Amino acid sequence: MIKKYSIKELLNKGKFLIDQKVLVEGWIRSFRYSIFIILNDGSTINNLQIILSKKFDKKIIKKITIGSSIRVIGIVKKSIGKKQYIELKSLDIIIYESVDKEILQKSILQPKKHSFEKLREQAHLRFKTNIFSCVMRIRHHIAFCIHKYFHEHGFFYLHTPIITTSNCEGTGKMFQITTMNLKNQPIDYTKDFFKCETYLSVSGQLEAESASLGLGKVYTFGPVFRAENSNTSRHLSEFWMIEPEIAFYHLEENINLAENFLKFIIKYIVENSMEDLTFLDQRLKKYSQKNRLLEKLELILKFPFKKISYTEVIKILDQEEKKKNIKFLHPIVWGMDLQSEHEQYLVDKYFKTPVVIFDYPCIIKAFYMRVNNDGKTVRAMDILFPEIGEIIGGSQREERYDILLQRMKDTNTDKNKLWWYLDTRRFGSVPHSGFGLGFDRIVQFITGMNNIRDVIPFPRTPNNAEF
Ligand code: 4AD
Ligand code: MG
Repeated sequence: MIKKYSIKELLNKGKFLIDQKVLVEGWIRSFRYSIFIILNDGSTINNLQIILSKKFDKKIIKKITIGSSIRVIGIVKKSIGKKQYIELKSLDIIIYESVDKEILQKSILQPKKHSFEKLREQAHLRFKTNIFSCVMRIRHHIAFCIHKYFHEHGFFYLHTPIITTSNCEGTGKMFQITTMNLKNQPIDYTKDFFKCETYLSVSGQLEAESASLGLGKVYTFGPVFRAENSNTSRHLSEFWMIEPEIAFYHLEENINLAENFLKFIIKYIVENSMEDLTFLDQRLKKYSQKNRLLEKLELILKFPFKKISYTEVIKILDQEEKKKNIKFLHPIVWGMDLQSEHEQYLVDKYFKTPVVIFDYPCIIKAFYMRVNNDGKTVRAMDILFPEIGEIIGGSQREERYDILLQRMKDTNTDKNKLWWYLDTRRFGSVPHSGFGLGFDRIVQFITGMNNIRDVIPFPRTPNNAEF
């Protein structure tokens, strides 16, 4: 039996395999001078060079086209070329599927620069492009190290329901789900599958809270759905979120956990995905010589995040406007929701580090956040990153039954639907906190991609649910 290797394995172990017979499979990235096949199999950004021996007849050579999938048995040789340490001298080739040259020309596999929009139109093929395969491999490593982090810190992975009856965040539209024929008016939900109105969940937090009150430390990692009509480079209608929830945690501990967690992820990727990061750095050429992708990531690791209250932030923005350092489109008043222009100014111009803003006015935040003694603010925290803006949103939760009930009334939250959530406050309630990290946003930040649609395999956005 001839041993089969992935291209990654073969390139890594190549030194020790010189003159051995091996088997590899992949698809062709390019074919030059009817001799050199450049093969990739997705395991790494690097390619394997295959040297065709003279014995192959013209019929086979004709079928060796870009994109075609092949199986090669060959002998590992030390390469004469400088680009690679080893190459494979072919003995036998099987062509699984040859790609027609004309079809190829219309596809994104044609080796030339294509726009990201064009890659999205052929989302089913873009896994084979250099850039998207880098992003996907990094996405995998980020997901992996998130589970690693929580596992090593004593958290339990919790699966919260995707189908729900309530809107945890209280803002924005939700996608409704039903098995009823909506053409039959009027709609009687008591005849629907669940005998009530149901939606796709925007967050697993409320369920995670009840689990944390029994298990101590839990986290969720799953898809969430929001029917906001935000057609921006940072919004998806279906995205992935990580939501840790911790019993006996105050806001300060929650903020420290979030900072430590974000730094762990970035450090892990810098240490484990260097080849893909380097490729992206060179290809995107977005960063000036001074501020390369890698330097940007290392800068996040270097300094503590700036921690500042909402009220202080409003003072700074107001002063900056008075000093004529900047003019904002949205006027600065206490109680306003911060807009991207304000967030960008704080992170990119004023502090030049990630910023944690805490103690927001209660009127702009969700019902479940703990009310401060001033009665006007809640123990909320948002973490803002360069380029991305808000990457994490979290809070200490309101653990006091009466105050929570009042907040539900004030925010028009249906207490009947959430009776079980309120009930947790009557059975040994404790201070507890948590946050939500937008998974696709951290992937976007680490890979340096401009549009969030280019970091998820099949993006769901307004007017787009193809593939
Ligand atoms: O700030 P959000 O809405 O917080 C929650 O859902 C809380 N229940 C979290 C918690 O405390 N357990 O969302 C959390 C994060 C945001 O900071 C952002 O990174 C990301 O989710 N996010 C989106 N990512 C992509 N597309 C969208 N439409 C997003 N909306 C929020
Ligand atoms: Mg938020």
